[in-house]
Amino acid sequence: MTAQLISGNEISKQIREELRQEIAGLKEKHNLVPGLVTVLVGADPASQVYVGQKEKTSKDLGIYSERHDLPANTTQADLLKLIDKLNKDPKINGILVQLPLPKHLSEAEVLYAINPKKDVDGFHPVNVGKLMIGEPDYLPCTPAGIQQLLIRTGVKIDGAEVVVVGRSNIVGKPIANILLQKAPGANATVTICHTGTKDIAFHTKRADILIVASGRPKTVTGDMVKEGVVVIDVGVNQVGMTKDGKRILAGDVDFDTVKEKAKAITPVPGGVGPMTITMLMLNTVKAAKLAAGLP
Ligand code: GUN
Repeated sequence: MTAQLISGNEISKQIREELRQEIAGLKEKHNLVPGLVTVLVGADPASQVYVGQKEKTSKDLGIYSERHDLPANTTQADLLKLIDKLNKDPKINGILVQLPLPKHLSEAEVLYAINPKKDVDGFHPVNVGKLMIGEPDYLPCTPAGIQQLLIRTGVKIDGAEVVVVGRSNIVGKPIANILLQKAPGANATVTICHTGTKDIAFHTKRADILIVASGRPKTVTGDMVKEGVVVIDVGVNQVGMTKDGKRILAGDVDFDTVKEKAKAITPVPGGVGPMTITMLMLNTVKAAKLAAGLP
């Protein structure tokens, strides 16, 4: 079997077109323009690229976009002051503080300070808790994007054996919670593997849907999966550099051996990556509608 490629670029494009129309309708009918602010502390090159993409996509779709670039030595108090100001700014519906923050800052305190209604990343404990009890307002962007990839590829999630490798707060735990919900596009049986798991292959071999977010290349190889599995590779690992200075990326899955057994698989790049930003745009539109009291 050679796997079907699940194109995050294509599915992202579809969702962005739907959003573009919805945003145009909000402006026309309600004079409502969703607003997103990104906050970047320091000059990490990968973070600069991500924030630049978020800003560009917002503008492209008709979302009002603001960007705050703060120096690496910004104090916790100054960052909290900015968040307080943004919490009160009616033009702003979504606040995204790019992670990771420099070591001297407390990520937890910063995330807690964001008004949960403007928490389009879905990282505030209120939003984490709401997902946990099956009443989510905002789904975290990368896991929400994974669910859309599965739904829009026509993968049967209801009743499927889903195995997640990785238990981060950004991907592993929330995607497990999303697919566990008693809801359309979910209702799966979910297992989470992590560094404490005795025999990862025992679990991955049982998976109908395998989601790998371990942060380590080749965590899953062809001998660890069953024929016909659907594989979502969340990894973004720099494994080299081209002669002209471009990063060479690989996922967490050994693509060449796994694609021989999988029914469908996401490539890296062009799989999960583009979906994250798209779902951020979707959350921002949702935040604007919630703030305006629209359904
Ligand atoms: N850093 C890596 N992924 C993310 C994300 O989804 N949101 C934010 N704010 N920072 C990140």
